Amino acid sequence: MERIMKCLEQIRQRTDFVPETALVLGSGLGELADLVEPAAVIEYGELNGFPVSTVPGHRGRFVLGYLEATPVVVMQGRVHYYEGYTMQDVVLPVRLMGQLGAKKLFLTNAAGGIQEEMQCGDLMLIRDHISCFVPNPLIGPNRNALGERFPDMSQVYDPALMQVIRSSAEELDIDLREGVYLQLTGPSYETPAEIRMCRMLGADAVGMSTAVEAVAARHMGMRICGLSLITNLAAGISETPLSHEEVKQAGQQAGAKFTALVRNAVSKMREV
Ligand code: HPA
Repeated sequence: MERIMKCLEQIRQRTDFVPETALVLGSGLGELADLVEPAAVIEYGELNGFPVSTVPGHRGRFVLGYLEATPVVVMQGRVHYYEGYTMQDVVLPVRLMGQLGAKKLFLTNAAGGIQEEMQCGDLMLIRDHISCFVPNPLIGPNRNALGERFPDMSQVYDPALMQVIRSSAEELDIDLREGVYLQLTGPSYETPAEIRMCRMLGADAVGMSTAVEAVAARHMGMRICGLSLITNLAAGISETPLSHEEVKQAGQQAGAKFTALVRNAVSKMREV
């Protein structure tokens, strides 16, 4: 909590900008940040006490400004548990964006597709998640200033925000899948047997982020929505070995569609 407040103070020395919506951009999806009319850009490394990402291809900065008319804070690059951070570190940025004033959180990620007939490049609206394969970010003394000890998780992803994303996809003529995202620790990709397990458990997509951020944000009472870009078919479904290169490339290829959808949806979310 002290670190969150320290980071908040450092940002407040730079800007008094108050975002309505916070956006987390996943691997290869950082392009959207270029559409933001910036009020302030803050590299993670400039913030004392902030966890800085070590993955090549993951940038690390906050862009605060306007996406069309909406005041947003965009995280271009996130930190992951597999880098060796604690879960408290992993969710610190989301908590910080909440403290900056963001009431809504739009989470995005690159994910492996498990659902029947899924294809590389598909977009999946996250309807629910499975986070219990990774440590819960709320373990430890409860921060009463943020939220209650035993927060309800029966509706993590906000129905009204999901509806906005559906209607944006329809307007833009983008096929949108829906499903359950399952978070694993990584950094190794899954085995085919693990993917069969994930499927049996009801997962439609698998990745190494997002669910814990959603848990921490829900704890704080933020309204959450999430979108996965299916960058590859999951292990055993895909006929080729998985690689980070493939994931990044798919992000670039589907970037325009992804960006158009997020941009359109963020504008519409001002109304709900
Ligand atoms: N597994 C886990 N994480 C991922 C994948 C995957 O197949 N693709 C992109 N992120």
